[in-house]
Amino acid sequence: MITPKDIIGHLHGGRALDVATGSGSFIHFLLEGLPAYTEIIGLDASERAAAAFAKTFADRPAIRFVLGDAMALSFETSSFDLVCIANSLHHFDEPAMVLAQMLRVLRPGGYLLVAEMVCDRQTETQLTHVYLHHWWAAIDSLSGITHHETYQREALVAMVKDLELEGLALYDLADTSEDPKDPAILTQLDPVFERYTQRASGHPELQAWGTKLRERVLTTGFHSATTLIALGSKSHARTE
Ligand SMILES: C[S@@+](CC[C@H](N)C(=O)[O-])C[C@H]1O[C@@H](n2cnc3c(N)ncnc32)[C@H](O)[C@@H]1O
Repeated sequence: MITPKDIIGHLHGGRALDVATGSGSFIHFLLEGLPAYTEIIGLDASERAAAAFAKTFADRPAIRFVLGDAMALSFETSSFDLVCIANSLHHFDEPAMVLAQMLRVLRPGGYLLVAEMVCDRQTETQLTHVYLHHWWAAIDSLSGITHHETYQREALVAMVKDLELEGLALYDLADTSEDPKDPAILTQLDPVFERYTQRASGHPELQAWGTKLRERVLTTGFHSATTLIALGSKSHARTE
């Protein structure tokens, strides 16, 4: 199993930015993998995320939250050593614009990291996660939340290749070693099924889709889908 240290253990985090950080889940990955950092900023547009983030990192003054829009980052050009986005590109209509903003605020020679779940080349048990995600995206979209289905690996790689990063490395993170039919999985997922089924009220076809998916968790089983991590550095030839 590839660890955060295998991926970012050779970097000094310096001043790092996690775009669309939510409650800061990906910052735990940074803390596990980076040998050192001076400051980590998590940026998100949600005030609810701000509260959850503040609670999680209350005892870490070098980790702070900034409320803002990933499509128009308010930071200076070339002001970060590491810029990341995790599990969020599919929450934007124009992901290339977010990546362009991330590249702008990254200093030449600094590292850009994209972590994103993919929907293809998955085992049957991982496909349960992919289909669940598609269902969540459909219900979120009903209430005006931008939430697309996750990308095919090739589309994601093409998007990152467009950034012309140097030394681009790709890692496919998947762990299918756990029991896919462990009853604890449904214990965790049931409140989620309940919440999304309620949110789909007035849409019987979406509710029926949820019932089928719950059945699939029981009969086929569940493993998390593969996360692709892309890491490369901004060319010194770039000023923006
Ligand atoms: C699925 S969450 C991912 C959170 C976190 N990165 C993680 O790995 O768990 C997607 C996040 O994108 C944020 N988001 C959506 N649109 C945004 C925007 N325009 N600017 C900043 N954040 C945004 C949402 O508020 C949400 O917290």
